[in-house]
Order: sequence, then C-alpha cells, then structure tokens
Amino acid sequence: MLFTYYGHSCFSVEIKGKTLLFDPFISHNPLATGIDVQGIPADFILISHGHTDHIADAVAIASRTGAKVIANWEVYEWLGKQGVTNVHPMNTGGKASFDFGQVKCVVAQHSASLPDGSYGGNPMGFVVTSDDGHFYYAGDTALTLDMQLIPSWAKLDFAVMPIGDNFTMDAADAASAAEMVQCKQVVGVHYDTFGFIRISKEQAKEAFKEKRIQLLLPDIGETINIK
Ligand code: NI
Ligand code: MN
Repeated sequence: MLFTYYGHSCFSVEIKGKTLLFDPFISHNPLATGIDVQGIPADFILISHGHTDHIADAVAIASRTGAKVIANWEVYEWLGKQGVTNVHPMNTGGKASFDFGQVKCVVAQHSASLPDGSYGGNPMGFVVTSDDGHFYYAGDTALTLDMQLIPSWAKLDFAVMPIGDNFTMDAADAASAAEMVQCKQVVGVHYDTFGFIRISKEQAKEAFKEKRIQLLLPDIGETINIK
C-alpha cells in the first residue's frame, strides 16, 4: 500500500485505486510549508476527531476534491454547517463498507472539540480492511487496553500511531500498543510539529527496536510502499 506523509498526523493511503486522506492539517503546519494543499488528492477524507490539528484543511480539500468525508456525528454536523455535505457519519464501535473496503471506528482515549469550540463528540481510531491489505490508524490516543480487541477484527499489515508524547502516547507506549494490536510495522506521527511534542527520533526508534517492531518515520512529502 502506498503511504504518503503530509506532516503531523496527516497522511494518505492508496487502496483499491482510491486515495484515503487522514486528518488534513497542512496550511498551519510550520514543518509542511513545502506541501501544496491545492495539489493533494483525495477520494475519501477520514477525520479522527475535531481538534484543529486534525481538521484545519478538511473543508478546503473536501470542497475542492468532492471527497467523501468519514467522521463522527458531531464532526459531520459541524462540516454540514461549513457547507460540506458529502459526509458519512459514524461513531465508535460502528463499521461501514465503502468502495475501497471497510472502516471500523475504534476507541481513542483522548478529548475532542471543534475549531469554534463546539462539542466534538468522541475521538476515534480507524481499522481499515480491504483486498489490498489492512491497517489501523490510532488517532490521538493514550495507550489503552481497548487496543487488545483490534487483532480480533483485523490482521494488520501496518499501523499509524502518535509518538509525540505530551498530548498522546510517546514512542515507548506506542511500541506497547503495537504489541497489543500485533503489528510489526508502525508509522510514527504527531511529533515535532510544536514545541510540546518535539522528540528524539533516535530514542523513538530505540523504543521500538527493543520490542522488535519497525518504526517508520517518512519525511514530510515522502511516499513509501508498505507491504
Ligand atoms: Ni487531538
Ligand atoms: Mn492532535
């Protein structure tokens, strides 16, 4: 599966000829100035929760591409007020089928509000299953025992997890999360963007190495092929 990193927790995965874009936050990311927001393709936009650093560019990209947005009920209602109507509302525990495969919304231990301060509902993670492969995006979350359920729903090819600490798991907790979800390849996100979440990449890789799990840290703008 082709994985492209756009900085912070924004990335896309290509499956079944469709581009799934996650948590668009580019134009306000000081590390992503090399990314042209206008050029980012999307057939689907999945939003884990309503915090600005996960949704800031969602309205612009959804409007330009016509992509279907997948988000929780509260984000769905908020997007509707911004004029984005092609939205599939979901909530934690639910799954739905799309033309690329299936999305299951899972627990993320975090908080949520929308950019205007309105209630954001529950933050979520996503388990995506398709003929091309299976992956898990944890969203913003603490390490939580709920993650132990994920292998009963999918045998993962890779996982995308926050490693920046302070607001989410650090790399050591993410490595424990990878063990819980039984996944040997993890892409680390949600680090270095702001002062609060600056990390040592070397220490992060070491934390994963101890558990014999590979931590992938693609550059912003880089596309990697994860098998
Ligand atoms: Ni957040
Ligand atoms: Mn965040």
